[in-house]
Parts: sequence; C-alpha cells; structure tokens
Amino acid sequence: MDVSLLQILQVLQNVFSLSIKIHPFYIPWLRYPRNEPVVKLSFDNLLGTWLEKLCARMASNKSQQFTEKFDAFYTKFATIYDLSVKLLPVWKTWIREAIPYIKGPRVLEISCGTGYLITQYANEFETYGLDYNTKMVSLTKKNLDKKGVKADIQQANVELLPYKNEVFDSLVNTMAFSGYRDGMKAMAEMYRVLKKGGRLLVIDVGYPKNRNRIGAILTRFWSLTGDIIRNMDKIFTSFNLDYKDIEIGGYGSVHLYVASKKRGRNV
Ligand SMILES: C[S@@+](CC[C@H](N)C(=O)[O-])C[C@H]1O[C@@H](n2cnc3c(N)ncnc32)[C@H](O)[C@@H]1O
Repeated sequence: MDVSLLQILQVLQNVFSLSIKIHPFYIPWLRYPRNEPVVKLSFDNLLGTWLEKLCARMASNKSQQFTEKFDAFYTKFATIYDLSVKLLPVWKTWIREAIPYIKGPRVLEISCGTGYLITQYANEFETYGLDYNTKMVSLTKKNLDKKGVKADIQQANVELLPYKNEVFDSLVNTMAFSGYRDGMKAMAEMYRVLKKGGRLLVIDVGYPKNRNRIGAILTRFWSLTGDIIRNMDKIFTSFNLDYKDIEIGGYGSVHLYVASKKRGRNV
C-alpha cells in the first residue's frame, strides 16, 4: 500500500480531533453556546488544528499530483461510480437535499460526477455543469441525453472556472470539496463566478457538531481515503459568506452548507 507522509499526518490529525472524549481537561457538562465542547481551547485541539493546517499546506504543495491521483481513480471507476450513485439510495437522498435551495435562473454544478443530480433539476433552470474528469463528463452527457435533459456540460478545473465574474445565481457542489487539493483556491473561484445575493450549496463530509462517536468515525474513514476534512466555517468566514450548516446524514458526518454572497462590496 502506498502510504504517504501526508496520509499519516491526516490520520494523526483525526486522532487528535477524536481524542476529545479522553482528554483530561474535557468537562462534558461545560459547553459553549451552540453545544460546542469546551475542549476547543485545549492542547489536543490546538495540535489537531495545527496538523489540519499542515495537511492542507502539504496537500496544496503536492500540487497537481493530488488532483491527478484522484483523477486516475475516477477514470478507472467512473462506470461503477455512475451505477453506485444511481443504485445507492442513501447517496441520492443526501445530494438531493440541495435541490430545494437552488434558485435560478442560472445554475452551475461544479464537480457534477456522472450527472445524477443535474438530471433531477436541470430542466427547471438554465443549467451548466463541469467536472475535472473527462470520463465523468462524457457519462454526464450520456445520462442527460438519456433523460432528455438539457444542460451545458464541460471539462474544467474548479481552480480555473471558465466563466466570467458574477454570472450564476446558484452554485451546487456535492461530495467533492474535500477532494480538492486547495480549498481556498476552489472557494475563491466559486466566489468569483457567483452573483451578489447568489447562493452557494455545498454538501460534504465533516465532523458532527455534537462529536458523536459514530459520526466522527465515519468522517475519519473519509479522510483515510485521501479526502481533506476542512474547517468549512473558517473558509466561509474568510470569504465573508453568510451560511448555515445543516447535518443531513451519516450521524452528522454529512453536511449541507447553504451560503449566500452578500450584496455589498466584494471581499
Ligand atoms: C465523489 S465525486 C462527487 C460527484 C457528484 N458531485 C456526486 O455527488 O455524486 C467527486 C468529483 O469531483 C471531481 N473533481 C475532483 N477534483 C476536481 C477539480 N479540481 N475540479 C473539478 N472537479 C473535480 C471528480 O472528478 C469527481 O467527479
């Protein structure tokens, strides 16, 4: 098995994030408002945060290598992926949670995979979709044709979106953000193409707010597959995006973030 230093650090980061329950300073009944454990300020959490930053920086430094590794995986398994999304009721249920929040007229889905979600809403909007993986793009086109659904689909990288500034009313991004090598770069591009007052819908894996053990283990499992579990709160806040975080499944390990771009000055 090809285990890199980055993967080892990611595991350590998760171990430190999970160690909350056994930390000597953890006082379960002493909680912040919003139900956050007081341990946020403790040593293990600081170490966890530091490791998280280090992992993100290393992943970013590994540059294209990170994206290409995932891309090779998707090229190999695109057909199986397509089947699993169609057959797995739980996956479909999660990603469909974004649909009621989409507002038009112009919608872009970033990292659309094989296009299952697009087939569910595209006809109601002027819809655009993209994915980095060329096989995923061709399967999306096939799936849309089969269903008689119209959308403008192309191959592109989230870090370099081929659109002008502030053209979309909504952006949809499901189960992909934790697979991006550079979360800040990805968010900067999303922010750029989103209209003021527009909506950004992200579904992704993250630690459950109440830190329940099953949800935390499930999140940790995702990071073992190479995904980077990011502090989405920090990312949204640094782009001055208003957002709400809704836990939609997986014992709190799958989150829907409904964010909106303020109408005032750009960040
Ligand atoms: C786990 S799949 C999710 C697909 C779909 N959104 C879903 O919910 O089923 C992640 C997708 O992100 C795409 N992806 C990875 N890196 C990307 C990048 N840098 N730019 C655009 N898409 C990317 C992959 O090709 C893959 O299709």
